[in-house]
Amino acid sequence: MKELSKITETFTESVIREMTRICDAAGGYNLSQGFPDFESPQEIKNAAIAAINDGWNQYPVTYGESELRKAISKKAARYNGITCNPETDITVTCGATESMIATLKAIINPGDEIIVFEPYYENYGPDGILSGATPRYVTLYTPDWSYSSEELAQAFNEKTKAIIINTPNNPTGKVFTRKELEEIAALCIQWDTYAITDEIYEHILYDDMQHTSLATIPGMGNRTITINSVSKTYSVTGWRVGWAIAEKAITQRIRKVHDFLTVGAPTPFQHAAAIALSFPDEYYIGLQAHYRDARKFLFDVLQKVGFQCSLPKGAYYIIADTKSLIHTLDARDDFSFSHKLIELTGVATVPGSSFYSKSNKGKTQVRFCFCKKWETLYAVEKALDKLV
Ligand SMILES: Cc1ncc(COP(=O)(O)O)c(C=O)c1O
Repeated sequence: MKELSKITETFTESVIREMTRICDAAGGYNLSQGFPDFESPQEIKNAAIAAINDGWNQYPVTYGESELRKAISKKAARYNGITCNPETDITVTCGATESMIATLKAIINPGDEIIVFEPYYENYGPDGILSGATPRYVTLYTPDWSYSSEELAQAFNEKTKAIIINTPNNPTGKVFTRKELEEIAALCIQWDTYAITDEIYEHILYDDMQHTSLATIPGMGNRTITINSVSKTYSVTGWRVGWAIAEKAITQRIRKVHDFLTVGAPTPFQHAAAIALSFPDEYYIGLQAHYRDARKFLFDVLQKVGFQCSLPKGAYYIIADTKSLIHTLDARDDFSFSHKLIELTGVATVPGSSFYSKSNKGKTQVRFCFCKKWETLYAVEKALDKLV
């Protein structure tokens, strides 16, 4: 048989999905994969069922149902301060995941470089490889996940095509400040670089943090691709509805890639997503309140049993340092720590090195997520007591 693709040969199974599989087999508590185990809002579940019954079951407009694009445009203006034309500046995709790869495919040429902050969301690694871009990594340093301005400036050069920013950030919980985004914007303008911002945790913020969309920083409107989705904000990760907002010429390219990749995101869920996007402010306040309490609860539990960690400013993950527990579990590294933790307690985490470009980094870190119902979080507390 002829050799299969060289590119895919280098991919490993997603570590998060692998941990989920092991966790399911052990009947454990899945704090590895970032999906809620509580119910999605009843109103949008009803809207999805109604959309199916109303006959929205065939291919959608490839770049998104008009009703949803209008709802995205309204919400982007209201919450993000982004002005966009629903006819020309929005592409609805199968989740933020497809928006990211479609955007990279739309803008990257061989030899182009992209800048990625690390630790980073696992998919950005394969996304870079699939699009043919060469990644340059800029470190986010503990304890507050700040970066060095000097290292950031050094990462830019004439080959830099784009920088990827994820704020609020997975896995660190960092929320990029306006000052940091202004610094990034100045570099993008200096080097004529695009910015791709993944803002899917934009509503999950703590301690009075404010979400700033890079596209609203002067000079960035026509060079930023703003990616979002309903997955996290409305607790519907299985619906696969996301979008990319970008000026017309970029959008035209993204739409072409999207059309050939997937044709369209599921039609009935697009109609239900339009309802979700018009939820009143109270919905977002309630979502934040749950996550604020869950964050504090898990943080306290982790500290009590001996992990070192800091409170995230946004999103729903905590990176914990395992140093003081490595001997308790007789673990060699982050992978064996995660496996042994499931064996002993049933609690699944993600090994820290899977968020770094080099496997020697993140060796004493694991990531927990807390987008879970109280019942699960209380059970996790009890299970982790076995470490004390
Ligand atoms: C930063 C980030 N971007 C994108 C995704 C996936 O988003 P979607 O479900 O919309 O494809 C995730 C999921 O965990 C994520 O953490």
